[in-house]
Amino acid sequence: MSRYYYLPVEQNSGTAGLSREVALPATIRADKVTLTRGPRSFSGMSETVLLVGGGGREHAIARALAPDCSLYAVAGNRNPGIVDLADGFEQIDGTDAEAIVEYAEEIDATLAIVGPEAGLQAGVADELDAAGIYTFGPQAEEARIETDKAFQRQFMADNDIPGCPDFETFDEMDAACAFIDDYDGDLAVKPVGLTGGKGVKVIGDQVTSEEAKAYLQESDYEGVVLEERLIGEEFTIQAFVADGDLRTTPAVQDHKRAYEGDEGPNTGGMGSYSDTGFQLPFMNEGDYEAAVDIMEQTVAAMPDYKGVLYGQFMLTTEGPKVVEFNARFGDPEAMNTLPILETPFIDVLTAARDGDDLPELEFTGQATVCKYAVPDGYPTDPNAGAKIAVDEETVGDGLLFYASVDARENGLYTTTSRSFAVVGRADSIAAAEEIAEDALAAAGEGFHIRHDIGKADLVQSRIDHMDELRGA
Ligand code: AMP
Ligand code: GLY
Repeated sequence: MSRYYYLPVEQNSGTAGLSREVALPATIRADKVTLTRGPRSFSGMSETVLLVGGGGREHAIARALAPDCSLYAVAGNRNPGIVDLADGFEQIDGTDAEAIVEYAEEIDATLAIVGPEAGLQAGVADELDAAGIYTFGPQAEEARIETDKAFQRQFMADNDIPGCPDFETFDEMDAACAFIDDYDGDLAVKPVGLTGGKGVKVIGDQVTSEEAKAYLQESDYEGVVLEERLIGEEFTIQAFVADGDLRTTPAVQDHKRAYEGDEGPNTGGMGSYSDTGFQLPFMNEGDYEAAVDIMEQTVAAMPDYKGVLYGQFMLTTEGPKVVEFNARFGDPEAMNTLPILETPFIDVLTAARDGDDLPELEFTGQATVCKYAVPDGYPTDPNAGAKIAVDEETVGDGLLFYASVDARENGLYTTTSRSFAVVGRADSIAAAEEIAEDALAAAGEGFHIRHDIGKADLVQSRIDHMDELRGA
């Protein structure tokens, strides 16, 4: 599977069945909407890339890189999608920097990319860089923009970066609770450290003030940020960053709540969509640029940052405000972005390493809808052990990305985390959503899926929400 790449759509590019040795010249551009894979990278072929991480996001990274380089991967779990695409795989915990460097040296890696935040926090990029293996991912110091929410807010305030909500930081939970009592309005309660996207509680949305205070008192968090509750619609922009240079990708909207209609507990993300252009249907002209301006100012204040900078924004009546920054691709958002990236992703990595300008990015211009299938009961009381019945054959026009699966002798089974995702790409969100739903038809029993993601009603409700807030 890792040697030959069949390009499925290609009535106009004439590339079906080409092997990696006979790649398309970089100058040939095919029709933007029908092209499934863009031109391949010649220079990338001489690269040996180590990918760290084993989720859906990393499967998307593997799929974007594998055609153009020699790809190796490490992760704590054996993601069958990644194992299939890689020339070599080693089961190593994604935070074990020493073992990762050892493996990288064994395979003569010329580049590395770290998917999950835990590895960045553990200094995996620091150690790989120190071993002379350029890593597309920030070192632990810069990754604090994600891994330490108190640092993140203070950094924005110190550097006068626009879009920062009012905030206060507390080490003592008693003081935080007193602040909640005294504050006139709703607050978002954010543990300073990593919580897998599940630690934030928003007063007036998920919890009451009393519940928020009880949550803090019962926790063993080292610190907490309390910040003004932002009202609006959320969107994500992921940018490739190196040497102060920044290239942005289309906005994506994730769905963090577990149940349809945005009900239930927060999850790692149940699914996401993007439109045919760079902005989403509820965004006005200028909203995307305003968010990119915030990201540019952030990168300017962090000159050593390299890798993916993920901006999570709330579009408010005052424009985009920063909900958080992440130091890596989003999961699921990577699965919206990388499959429509025509520019070989390896060219971004080599340019970053070589100190060249990052390439201007080209996209297919397709809308995308990504839906995760998660075990029943996720995230509070997940049931592991359901058999996964989808495979590359059953997903039709959709793309299949494996996440947390347990490979047994007679097939793949769910664990307690998100199991797999499917992605539809088409010339409208509605058409992409249908492709994703068709791909899920064979999912089998024991899964929960948010079928509302990308459906016309939900997309329209986002537009109506922003219109209502803007008094349109
Ligand atoms: P985070 O872990 O920072 O991504 O936060 C999880 C979710 O909490 C976000 O996706 C938002 O929906 C919500 N959230 C975080 N901060 C705020 C805020 N200041 N106002 C409103 N909602 C927020
Ligand atoms: N989709 C949310 C995240 O990756 O953090």
